[in-house]
Amino acid sequence: MALYSDKVMDHFQNPRNVGKLDDADGIGEVGNAKCGDIMRMYIKVDDNGVISDCKFNTFGCGSAIATSSMATELIKGKPIEEALKLSNQAVVEALDGLPAHKIHCSVLAEEAVRAAVKDYYDKKGIAYDPDDFQIHDCESCQS
Ligand code: FES
Repeated sequence: MALYSDKVMDHFQNPRNVGKLDDADGIGEVGNAKCGDIMRMYIKVDDNGVISDCKFNTFGCGSAIATSSMATELIKGKPIEEALKLSNQAVVEALDGLPAHKIHCSVLAEEAVRAAVKDYYDKKGIAYDPDDFQIHDCESCQS
């Protein structure tokens, strides 16, 4: 069996929603200190609280690019509260799996989305539960 699924390869070679949103309502930037990869996520939120557009820039490995690409596809057109619930497992499942040593790349995608949502809430002055934005404990993460 191939190490990477067809979907991972597709999203790595043809990433969706790459770039920057100049008029973003929320921007999240996260990095993994161990591997040095960096991910930046931009979201545009309409008056109904729906993510109308979303883009990303990832300086990192192929799995980081594939997971960011899939994350943008999973949150685009969704209410912001749903984006907040996006888990790295959901991203991995949507990509038909990742090798165990690449799971941390999907954690980065989840955190980038969450950081963008937090930035949006902060800018709009929307109250939120800080527990929703706890930083992932990378020490216990397989990397
Ligand atoms: Fe670090 Fe992929 S190797 S995000």
